[in-house]
Amino acid sequence: MNDKIEELKEKVKNFSIENRETLEIFRTKFLSKKGELNEIFEAFKLIAGEEKKDVGKKINSLRTSIEDKYNEAKEKFSLLKKSVREEKDFSLPVNAYKIGSEHPISKVKNEILDIFETIGFKIAKGPEIEDDWHNFSALNFPENHPARDMQDTFFIKGNSEEKFALRTHTSSVQVRLMETDKPPIRALMPGRVYRNEAVSARSNFFFHQIEGLYIDENVSFSDLKQTLYYFVSQFFGEREIRFRPSYFPFTEPSAEMDIFLGIATEQDYKLTKGTGWLEILGCGMVDPNVLTNCGIDAEKYSGFAFGMGIDRITMLKYGIKDIRQMFENDLRFLEQFT
Ligand code: DAH
Repeated sequence: MNDKIEELKEKVKNFSIENRETLEIFRTKFLSKKGELNEIFEAFKLIAGEEKKDVGKKINSLRTSIEDKYNEAKEKFSLLKKSVREEKDFSLPVNAYKIGSEHPISKVKNEILDIFETIGFKIAKGPEIEDDWHNFSALNFPENHPARDMQDTFFIKGNSEEKFALRTHTSSVQVRLMETDKPPIRALMPGRVYRNEAVSARSNFFFHQIEGLYIDENVSFSDLKQTLYYFVSQFFGEREIRFRPSYFPFTEPSAEMDIFLGIATEQDYKLTKGTGWLEILGCGMVDPNVLTNCGIDAEKYSGFAFGMGIDRITMLKYGIKDIRQMFENDLRFLEQFT
């Protein structure tokens, strides 16, 4: 019996546990029910008398040493496993977060705002649901005047005396700004506007505008021209511009500004209807009636205003053929503008 114990002791000592596989072999070989230690225990049961006590001690110490060896190795390999897990493999492909992209309208809007901010224009905003005063009356659209039909309006049903509508242009924000601020006023007012129009590839019932306003002493039409020329040169590059006389109730004189694209490509030919010129914005000198309506001394101050559609400029910039594509939220479309 003693020999057997010594023999097993020797075997255990010589067994080298090198990895998790050999650790398992060690366990089955020595510690499992069918293992060699158990064999000795079985034999031990048959021993009687004084000898049993002595042999029992030896077997117990053998068991402890086998278990110690096993536990020690087990810890080592599980530690090893843990540290392998913690080690980072930087060559693995990353599980990257999908970051959305800026909407093309926002991109163009921000680009335009940046250009005007460099020449001192601040940004102002107003509500999309607007009352009659701010959208029309203060802007010199007389009650029942046909000029109101220039912009097909979505009126809002309500019980109040006052009429409300979805704003038809961002010019309403000019009024709000002039009512609250004192000249000099130099502001850009971006926002969404609504018109009751048939939807097609080129027009939608809502779109985006940027309104510009500059009020100070001695502001003249040449300031307006110079400011817009600066904008065009920054946004479109050096291009010819021209002003055509036009009519808006809130400006006098009023004009529309075109930029020269030429007719070199088929797309430019179509866009400009064969003339080479593309209308970009409406503008003019703020009508003194509007200044007075907003509480600004029209004798002392003058100013210019302009308004442009962002959607059309965006379509022009990116060659987008159908305005509706910009609002369908189709990722295949939107992802192109990262
Ligand atoms: N509000 C006009 C429109 O929506 C655009 C416009 C024209 C704005 C002339 C202006 C301006 O400030 O002076 O069609």
